Amino acid sequence: MAKWAVIYSSVTGNTKKIAEAIAEEAGADLFRVQDAPEDVSGYDVVATGWWIRRGQPDPLMAEYLPKIHGTKVVFFQTHGTGPESEHAVTSFARAGYMLGDGNEVLGTFGCRGKINPAMKKRRELQDPNDPHGGAKGEERWRLASTHPDEADVAAAKKLVHDMEHKMELKARFLARMAAKKAEAEKTKAEA
Ligand SMILES: Cc1cc2nc3c(=O)[nH]c(=O)nc-3n(C[C@H](O)[C@H](O)[C@H](O)COP(=O)(O)O)c2cc1C
Repeated sequence: MAKWAVIYSSVTGNTKKIAEAIAEEAGADLFRVQDAPEDVSGYDVVATGWWIRRGQPDPLMAEYLPKIHGTKVVFFQTHGTGPESEHAVTSFARAGYMLGDGNEVLGTFGCRGKINPAMKKRRELQDPNDPHGGAKGEERWRLASTHPDEADVAAAKKLVHDMEHKMELKARFLARMAAKKAEAEKTKAEA
């Protein structure tokens, strides 16, 4: 198993729950983003997780991502919207351009996370015509209200093994390519 760090940002605990599941499965060092190391060069894989705020990683994680350089990165996020939504996918893309130089993004995981009820109250009071309100907004709140659930935690744990498998396949592929190249060079030298 590679050496993993799991670094997360969470206000109401949803992302923390996923971070803990990943860390447990990977035997990782677990850090709140506020306590995360500036230098992650001692790790093979750095899993970074955030809650989506206004369509992108929350401000604490947005500040941290540029500090990560030259490593393999796994992204995870929790959000009110569905994991396959354009909104959620775009958030990963935004995280990708926030990252520092020379990283390889290994993979991603996202799931819904119940939305702080205080937000709903505030939104209703502020603007009854909010585009995120109405029946669609109500439905989003309802769907998110039970997450992260057991299935989300199990899927997050599975991610660790999927990423390990991906790294193993790539290492095997690179070893095959190197052997092929060495063989070709040997044949050429002998000719
Ligand atoms: C201020 C605020 C803004 C949010 N913006 C979004 C958003 O743009 N898209 C979304 O899908 N969820 C949004 N959410 C929902 C949170 O991302 C979601 O509930 C998340 O699971 C909270 O994670 P945490 O418990 O780790 O803090 C927002 C929540 C808050 C409080």
